[in-house]
Amino acid sequence: MAKEKAVKEIEDLPGIGPTTAEKLKASGYETLDSIAVAVPGDLAEVSGMSLEAAKKAVETAKQATTLEYSTGAQVYERRKGLGRISTGASSLNEILGGGVETGGITEVYGKFASGKTQLGFQLCVNAQLPRDKGGLGGSVLFIDTESTFRPERIESVAKAAGMDANAALEAISVVRATSSDQQILAIERADKTVKEKGIKLVVVDSLMSLFRAEYPGRGALGERQQKLNAHIHKLQHLADTYDLAVYITNQVMDNPAILFGDPTTPVGGNIVAHAATTRLYMRKSKEEKRIVRLVDSPAMPEAEAVIKITPNGIRD
Ligand code: GTP
Ligand code: MG
Repeated sequence: MAKEKAVKEIEDLPGIGPTTAEKLKASGYETLDSIAVAVPGDLAEVSGMSLEAAKKAVETAKQATTLEYSTGAQVYERRKGLGRISTGASSLNEILGGGVETGGITEVYGKFASGKTQLGFQLCVNAQLPRDKGGLGGSVLFIDTESTFRPERIESVAKAAGMDANAALEAISVVRATSSDQQILAIERADKTVKEKGIKLVVVDSLMSLFRAEYPGRGALGERQQKLNAHIHKLQHLADTYDLAVYITNQVMDNPAILFGDPTTPVGGNIVAHAATTRLYMRKSKEEKRIVRLVDSPAMPEAEAVIKITPNGIRD
């Protein structure tokens, strides 16, 4: 009997030649692990291989993968190495444990003009700064669903951060999405851009506006939530695979069930609530002041920071 070749890379799997491997990698299936947990139908769809071949590849990948267990101390060491993007305000960085973190989704919700987009712009600039200046030395993918991307504002914020404004704008890839399908596709197809451009921050501003407009009423809610769920999973997948930060903005509604206190509630339901690693609630205070409340975080306590939206960007 012929000796079986050790399976180390996805090219070693049965039925996966160089062309198929190329297609799989372009869709984010780069490792044996990613194949081992994949849905065969998805693999077949993105690569053009037959469903049978995809099933076989998944089975073989499952057998070939090994899981490594680590101690809590090792996890702690690794987490110290996670990247963080400064928000521009030290008080806000502090309640976040250093800034907006990579490997997860940070959501900011709040009423109109609360500053969600402005904070996004600041992160677009700061993500490009070197690590010792509060950045990740990376570029940015900005999904603009409300036509609120303002290069002139990026220009002023970048200049104030001591950067060349043109270079800062060049490092931001902007996709203007006018339907939820375009928004979904922009993220589905992001892998190639993320790799080629070294993207360290993905902004979706805003997550829900198109979904809300296109799926009005209770009847459409199931379908909407299903699409939304897949969309958010893909965002988390990007965050995990490329160790990048995902920043999403979200709209709010008044929850009639909350009789006392602030009824402001983010839209999108449980799917968004569970997917966001860190949730922030932003609200207007006097003049340029904004109050940011850390509502949900895996490691940091609930806390508030006061920030300002200045001509130079977000500051204490
Ligand atoms: P929606 O997208 O409408 O839900 O609001 P948002 O939360 O995204 O608000 P956004 O970030 O657009 O904040 C708007 C506020 O930022 C304005 O009311 C201004 O106070 C402030 N702002 C916007 N542009 C500038 C600017 O160029 N300079 C300064 N100093 N402030 C600005
Ligand atoms: Mg906005």
